[in-house]
Amino acid sequence: MVGWIIGIGLLATAAIVAAAASFRSRDSSVALDQLSEQASERDPETHGVVRRQFLNRSIVATFGLGLSSFGAAAFAFLSPQEAGGFGSVINVGTITDIKAAIRAGGGFLYVPEGRMWITEYPEAALENAVASYSYYDQIAPSLEVGLTALFQTCPHLGCRVPECVTSQWFECPCHGSKYNRVGEKKAGPTPRGLDLFSTEVTAADELLVNTGTIILGPRIGTNTTGQEAEGPSCVGDSAE
Ligand code: FES
Repeated sequence: MVGWIIGIGLLATAAIVAAAASFRSRDSSVALDQLSEQASERDPETHGVVRRQFLNRSIVATFGLGLSSFGAAAFAFLSPQEAGGFGSVINVGTITDIKAAIRAGGGFLYVPEGRMWITEYPEAALENAVASYSYYDQIAPSLEVGLTALFQTCPHLGCRVPECVTSQWFECPCHGSKYNRVGEKKAGPTPRGLDLFSTEVTAADELLVNTGTIILGPRIGTNTTGQEAEGPSCVGDSAE
């Protein structure tokens, strides 16, 4: 998104500079000739001042328009996201449908518009979650119906973390950080578990995930579920 906006800003600026250069070299030549003729009737110093004034004003106008374009692009970036996209509250569906989709996906459900993973949270681990998660209240609605919503981005250096169906963990291909199925750190250089989103469950049993606020993931050593790798890893081990 940032790259897209910067690209638009640069393109707009380049277009404006090109237009200004063209204006200077073609259309302005007539005006300059007229001014030159008039100026030549005056002294050479006056001629130079007129030309310099024109060029200075062109440069100021060009930069002004370029800055305006960049400002417009920055405003668009900082404006609230449109409903339903990342940054908004996303209705993922009914709890029943979500659990069916997770099972169909081998233990994981990816929700691209929310840049998030949804996995099942075991009921037997709830007591540990209350004791371990300082942010428990913010995610309690989903945990208490057996679900957790995890941000896809690795807290180490920001790679997108994919699921590993064989180990039933999340395993980052960039530097080997690994997380259990509920996002708690198991290995690698990550400074914490996967970050999370706050959740609500509606009267119609639908899961709402607020992707506008990211909750920092569980600290190193948190292990509420005791889930070990259930099969071969998808990426190699790395140094901590
Ligand atoms: S970005 Fe994931 S381990 Fe480095």
